[in-house]
Amino acid sequence: MKVKKGQQLEVVVDDIAFGGRGLVKIDGLAVFVDQAVPGDRAEIRIVKKKKNFAEARVIRLIDSSPFRVTPPCRYAGYCGGCKWQFLDYLKQLEYKQKHVAESIEHIGLLQNITVHEVIPSPRVFKYRNKMEFSCSDRRWLLPEEMDIEGTDISFALGLHVPGTYNKVLDTDTCLLFPDLGNAILEDVRQYMKQSDRPVYGLRSHEGFWRFLMLRHSAAHDRWMVNIVTAAEDMETVKPLAHKLMEKYPRIISIVNNITARKAGIAIGEYEILLAGEACLKDKINDFEFEISANSFFQTNTLGAERLYQTVADYAGLTGSERVADLYSGTGTIAICLSSGAREVMGIEIVESAVADAEKNCALNNVSNCHFISGDIKDCLSKISHVPDVMIIDPPRVGMHKDVVRRVLDMAPRKVVYVSCNPATLARDLNMIKEQYKVLEVQPVDMFPHTFHIESVAVLERI
Ligand SMILES: C[S@@+](CC[C@H](N)C(=O)[O-])C[C@H]1O[C@@H](n2cnc3c(N)ncnc32)[C@H](O)[C@@H]1O
Repeated sequence: MKVKKGQQLEVVVDDIAFGGRGLVKIDGLAVFVDQAVPGDRAEIRIVKKKKNFAEARVIRLIDSSPFRVTPPCRYAGYCGGCKWQFLDYLKQLEYKQKHVAESIEHIGLLQNITVHEVIPSPRVFKYRNKMEFSCSDRRWLLPEEMDIEGTDISFALGLHVPGTYNKVLDTDTCLLFPDLGNAILEDVRQYMKQSDRPVYGLRSHEGFWRFLMLRHSAAHDRWMVNIVTAAEDMETVKPLAHKLMEKYPRIISIVNNITARKAGIAIGEYEILLAGEACLKDKINDFEFEISANSFFQTNTLGAERLYQTVADYAGLTGSERVADLYSGTGTIAICLSSGAREVMGIEIVESAVADAEKNCALNNVSNCHFISGDIKDCLSKISHVPDVMIIDPPRVGMHKDVVRRVLDMAPRKVVYVSCNPATLARDLNMIKEQYKVLEVQPVDMFPHTFHIESVAVLERI
């Protein structure tokens, strides 16, 4: 049967593809079905047809897969924050493991690599310690909101519709986040709506209020509020900070990041401390970490303990090793490994994260970790000794080709590669496969109800 755009078909979804969409083969053609899980019998409509694949939407679910569960969130299916709430958590873990294994085989072209079962997240809801909510002058409505008369569609503060930069839901509750965060979100929304300053337009790039970023300390149950605006206006933002500090004693830091850039990134060109402290303190294992607004910190604090334990197990330090920690963020991995190492050298591009890492060493009485601020591809040569063990924890894009070349030139005995993207993990493992053997891979779930998965691979020089 020839698949055509607009066609309606009845199918049984039999697999899941990267990105979390259901997959069905029709006459050998891969058809990706949004919002479908294996075992669903559904009537679908083809919405896009390309040479090698097609995309479809479910029009009517005829028989539900036994792996479907009722999502507790009212935004499920419309919000890009998490797209897998309708899939049983154990199934999510099974598909995540399969995805890591298949990436290593098909993209990495590596056979017979042991990929262990996924270590689950300690919490499956309320696990995130940081959320970024976007402001918009156009609110994207849920179907049930469309019929409510008088709904204000000129303001939204919330999460995006999946894959869109300009469709923002007016999110009142996010279940990935502790409850108090939702209360703060609501107060900030009301303040922004009533203020004289306009909300930002994601198409016009005009307006004042841009983002609200909230961070929560899991260990101390304290909050940081980061208000991101397009310009500096203390008369407008200071009263908001005072109101929040007065109402919520658990808020200990309020900052204002200011950015005139058009990019949809909640990071300011500069930051002003509005109230309280500039950093939030959290704990991983027995270590305290100070985190400033723009520094990277693992978003699932309890999950990070499991992730770093896996890194430590794979590093297998005995006390005598020199360790390099590439992409070191606020120094969390370096500090967690410090007691087992002779020294740890971290490299990180964000200056505030390096400053946090140095403070964090002092805070934890760690004296054998040092950090270099700069781009890894320019700074790797500044490490004077060849490390015995190299930890590599890059962002989603993986390693730059120049970095790969320098790592190979340095030739550490062992590499522990931490990745939040199975595709770039597999690509990078392939680039070094002549010199490094992958011993095993341990996926760790840091992101329940999304198809994202963190993995740790341990490699030995051949
Ligand atoms: C996935 S995070 C890992 C951070 C840290 N290892 C942790 O577990 O918290 C990646 C880090 O790489 C940093 N980074 C991104 N590109 C970089 C580059 N080219 N050179 C150095 N650091 C970079 C980011 O700022 C971020 O802190």
